[in-house]
Amino acid sequence: MRKRKVFLAKGADQVHEMFDWKDAWEKDNAVWHMDGVNSTLEKHLDKITGKENKAKLFFPLCGKTLDMLHLSKMGHEVVGVEFSELAVRQFFEENSVPCTASSVSSMEGMLYKNDDYRIRIYCGDFFKFGSHLEKDFDGVWDRGALEAIEPKMRKTYIDIMKSILKPGAGYILDTADRPIGIGPPFFISVDEIVEHFGLKSQPEQIDYEIAEPDLQAMGCAGLFFYYFLMP
Ligand SMILES: C[S@@+](CC[C@H](N)C(=O)[O-])C[C@H]1O[C@@H](n2cnc3c(N)ncnc32)[C@H](O)[C@@H]1O
Repeated sequence: MRKRKVFLAKGADQVHEMFDWKDAWEKDNAVWHMDGVNSTLEKHLDKITGKENKAKLFFPLCGKTLDMLHLSKMGHEVVGVEFSELAVRQFFEENSVPCTASSVSSMEGMLYKNDDYRIRIYCGDFFKFGSHLEKDFDGVWDRGALEAIEPKMRKTYIDIMKSILKPGAGYILDTADRPIGIGPPFFISVDEIVEHFGLKSQPEQIDYEIAEPDLQAMGCAGLFFYYFLMP
């Protein structure tokens, strides 16, 4: 699979360095990965499940987040997209979840799924994912995802989201509290969220997390969490 590269800035006034996600996974340097379930997700879970016991939830650029495991155990159906095969394999292996893999030619990738099909992770480029593979999601946990991609790709990313989410789907999105244009993770303005998602009103800021020290060292003070319903 082709390597995608994006920019990582160490600080607002430092020179951009090339950042390679797969390399970070291979060097065991996935600093964004959390050892437990994200407490902000737990706090606001109803907003993306719509209080349903069996919601279909989307995890774009999912890494090996334990949030997927947690929600699948609650009875929800979880679908992730991640282009590091190492991360996807580690997700299933480290959590002792048996899985099978099959090729997904339209994405030039693979689909890893557990036995009851409740956890499905598409291993490949998000920009080749879409409604031809999965649709009708009830909610999205967009943590470290839209903010992780190059700003010029935001519209394309959001167009994919629009095509796979149900109208009224709950969307939680985080964006970095740092100067514009530096990242990943990048700052995304409220106006941009409103414009690209076609919202009638501003998204609600539901939380703010103070950044961990490694993120602070990169010039990011924290993470804003926004919530809105898909039009
Ligand atoms: C900041 S991490 C966030 C991971 C996860 N959402 C979490 O909360 O732990 C971003 C992830 O996106 C993956 N990624 C970056 N660009 C991608 C792309 N175009 N398609 C699929 N995955 C991508 C990286 O490998 C990395 O695991």
